[in-house]
Amino acid sequence: MSAQNGNGSPHVELRQVTKRYGPVTAISDLTLTVEKGSFTALLGPSGCGKSTMLRMIAGLEAITQGRCFIDGADVTDLPPAQRRIAMVFQSYALYPHMTVRDNIAFSLSIAGASRKVQRERALEAARILQLEPYLDRRPAELSGGQRQRVAIGRALVRKPEVFLFDEPLSNLDAKLRVQMRFELAKLHADLRTTMIYVTHDQTEAMTLADTIVVLDRGTISQVGSPLDLYNRPANKFVAAFIGSPSMNFFGVDLVGASDGLASVVLPGGRGARARVRGASKPEGAVELGVRPEHFGLTGVDDPAAALPGAVVIVERLGSATILYVDTPAGQLIVQGDGNLAVRPGEQIGLSLVEADVHLFDASGVAL
Ligand SMILES: Nc1ncnc2c1ncn2[C@@H]1O[C@H](COP(=O)(O)OP(=O)(O)OP(=O)(O)O)[C@@H](O)[C@H]1O
Ligand SMILES: [Mg+2]
Repeated sequence: MSAQNGNGSPHVELRQVTKRYGPVTAISDLTLTVEKGSFTALLGPSGCGKSTMLRMIAGLEAITQGRCFIDGADVTDLPPAQRRIAMVFQSYALYPHMTVRDNIAFSLSIAGASRKVQRERALEAARILQLEPYLDRRPAELSGGQRQRVAIGRALVRKPEVFLFDEPLSNLDAKLRVQMRFELAKLHADLRTTMIYVTHDQTEAMTLADTIVVLDRGTISQVGSPLDLYNRPANKFVAAFIGSPSMNFFGVDLVGASDGLASVVLPGGRGARARVRGASKPEGAVELGVRPEHFGLTGVDDPAAALPGAVVIVERLGSATILYVDTPAGQLIVQGDGNLAVRPGEQIGLSLVEADVHLFDASGVAL
C-alpha cells in the first residue's frame, strides 16, 4: 500500500522556513513540497524538529521566517481552524466522561453542525475505523488501539484536506502498533487524503509512507521513497538511520575510481569494489557502509572473502540470524538466514557485492 500515491501536484509547501525559539534554531531555511494525496513521513531522531514542522503546518506554531502554502494559498498567517487540516497527537486526550460517539462528534458540535450531521459523520467514521460496536462506551472501557482510533475518528469527521499525525502510535505496544499501521495504510488507501506523519521509527516510516523526509537537526537530509533511501542513501546519516539492524561503517583505502566503480583496500589487506556516482576520486579518508543483510558468508580462506572474522555472538530471531563478528574492520553486525549453521567462536569469511556497498567521503556524503 505504500506505492507512489501522490498525484504530482503540490499540496502543502514550506518555503525557506526557519523557526527559532529564542536562541534555539529548531528549523533552518527548510523548503519542502508535499504532494496532494501522498503519505509523507517526517522521520528523524528526537529533537530534529519534526513536531515543530508539523505544528507550523497546522498553524499551532508561528513561523519565524519563510512562508507556508496549502493548495497554493499562503496560509502563514491563517489560524489553525481556517487551514482545513486535522491533527492527531501521540497523547489522544479523549474526554473521559463522553461516549465514543460524542468524542468523535465533539469538534462538529463546537463547530455548530446539526445533530443529524454529527450523527451521520460519527457513524461513518466509526464504520471506517471499525468502532461501531463501541460507540456507546466511554474511553476507559476501550483498549489503547481503540482509543487511538477514536482520536483518529475525531480528525476524520472534520473531513480535512490534510491529516497531520504526530507519533500517533508510540503509546501502543508493539503488536498493536503493527495493527494500527495497517489500519492507517488502509485509511489512506481508502481516503486518498494527504497525510503527513511524524515518527522517529524508521520501520513505521518505511511501511506507511510513499515519501520519506529525513530530518537532521532542523534541516532536510534527504527526501525519497522508502526504497530510494534504503538503496541510495545520500549520506551517512540517512544510511545509518534507515534499515535495521543499522548499516556497518568502517574506514577503507581508496585506490582508484573509474567508470562508476571504486576500488578499495579493506582493513586486513584484501580488496573490494563499490559502485559510486561521482567520476572523480575524492580527497581524504573514505568509509565503506555495508548493511548487515548484504554480507555473504563464506569459509574463512575462501578467495571470495573480503574480510575474515570470528563469530562472537549468534542471535536467533527465527526469520533471521544476527551475528556479531570480530573482523580487522572492527565488530560488524551480519544478518543471515534463520537456520544459518554458525556457532560462536567459529571463523568465517565475509564477502561483498559491489552493488550493495556504499562509499562515503570524510564529510559523510555518499560517493
Ligand atoms: N517551546 C519551545 N521552546 C524552546 N525550544 C523548543 C520548543 N519546542 C521545541 N524546542 C526545541 O526545538 C527542537 C525541535 O523540537 P521538536 O519538538 O520539533 O523535535 P522532535 O523532532 O519532534 O523531537 P521528538 O522526537 O523528541 O518529539 C528541539 O531542540 C527542542 O528542544
Ligand atoms: Mg516530536
